Amino acid sequence: MPETIQSEKGKTFFIHTFGCQMNLADSGIITALLQQEGYVVTDDEAEAGIILLNTCAVRENAVDRVGHLLQHLYGQKKRDKRLIIGVVGCIPQHQREALFARYPAIDFLAGPDTYRTIPELIAQVQRGGKGAALAFNTAETYDGIEPVRQSAISAFVPVMRGCNNMCAYCVVPFTRGRERSQPFASVIREVQNLAASGYREITLLGQNVNSYHDADSDSNFAALLDAVSREAPEARIRFTTSHPKDISEALVRTIAFRPNICNHIHLPVQSGSTRMLGLMNRGHTIEEYREKIALIRSLIPDVTLSTDIIAGFCGELEEDHQASLALLSDVRFDAAYMFFYSTRPGTLAAKMFEDDVPDALKKRRLQEIIDLQNRISAELFHEAIGTVVEVLAESESRRSSAQLMGRTAGNRAVVFDREGYQPGDVLDVLVTGATSATLIGRPVRTGTYSSVNLR
Ligand code: SAH
Ligand code: SF4
Ligand code: F3S
Repeated sequence: MPETIQSEKGKTFFIHTFGCQMNLADSGIITALLQQEGYVVTDDEAEAGIILLNTCAVRENAVDRVGHLLQHLYGQKKRDKRLIIGVVGCIPQHQREALFARYPAIDFLAGPDTYRTIPELIAQVQRGGKGAALAFNTAETYDGIEPVRQSAISAFVPVMRGCNNMCAYCVVPFTRGRERSQPFASVIREVQNLAASGYREITLLGQNVNSYHDADSDSNFAALLDAVSREAPEARIRFTTSHPKDISEALVRTIAFRPNICNHIHLPVQSGSTRMLGLMNRGHTIEEYREKIALIRSLIPDVTLSTDIIAGFCGELEEDHQASLALLSDVRFDAAYMFFYSTRPGTLAAKMFEDDVPDALKKRRLQEIIDLQNRISAELFHEAIGTVVEVLAESESRRSSAQLMGRTAGNRAVVFDREGYQPGDVLDVLVTGATSATLIGRPVRTGTYSSVNLR
């Protein structure tokens, strides 16, 4: 290959992003940091001389997916000796330099607090070595970096990083380090820029946003959310994730009071059994959780709720599993992310408990949870048929460019006939059909119907 083409290729990078929204936001930060150093991002992996994997360690299957990709990339590296592979994010922070021996494809490793060193790591590899930057840095919030965004409609804004909770099953405190908050003034500045650029949806991110605290102004998350909603009055404001033990009445009142804060709360419960919540170190009972739900529903009657739930955590008995099913039946969440437990090395559970629920039983319990939740979601979605919902159009639907996909304020996905609308438009849609995950409908002129379903 001629030298000029290879050196262009050597400056071109592609990022595979796995895991949560925080990783998606981080890939935007990494892209900005590399662009500052003259690197060029591509969405065609074959064009890239540098391939980054921004990884997730939260469950075993997330780690396995990255392992398979690394094996595939090793074959590619044998054909193209100059290809550079960097593994960044939560897996290297957790497994550290041991990854080099396991996956010979890897040239360098960086953790969530060391993305600023990636250009230096690439240079080190180009000089003929391998590199790793895996120190924690509680001061790092990537303040001042303007991330490169994938969408011109929806934006993620990290407001805190890390987690000080120690849920027994969870690896995140070991991959993301101690909690730290983005300065209040920086969040507001970023939100003002997004509002000025016409963004229609802003999602504030953190592992536990309720722990947000800005030392200078002594502001909590409710104050931040309120201020953000006022700075971007034309945008829908969302946030994730809230820990049930920390969600405050002040926060719920802020959501209820501010019209552009979406009436949707993701409140991971993990289990319906107080005994399991104790073993999981969640810091609350199931009665307290139910009381929080009752408070939220009394202050925001049209709220939609979603949750996370784990089947088969250490020591889970049939009666604990039944308590999880009972909780789902009683609360009737709109949606749930449902997982079977997988041990994460280094966590409290890995050290203290036996992973004693057999795999087949974990999977049976998970299937029961999924079947019940799908039935509930389908019932709730069917109840919306015949009502009019307000939708922010996000993209063309996967099936056809004659249809758009969007979401209600309650975070329900809606697929509807396009009829000249564009992604970014907010419009009223008459719901004519539903599955357990999607509403189906067609646009109606505003004012045709007297009431709009706020969910
Ligand atoms: N910070 C968020 C979510 C963190 S991880 C919160 O506190 O809610 C997202 C979800 O993955 C968790 O809510 C949990 O349901 C699930 N999860 C985490 N560790 C897991 C494990 N070891 N096995 C199975 N599911 C897990
Ligand atoms: Fe993990 Fe618990 Fe922290 Fe969420 S709150 S990231 S589940 S330790
Ligand atoms: Fe995964 Fe790390 Fe997010 S472990 S869930 S990518 S914080």
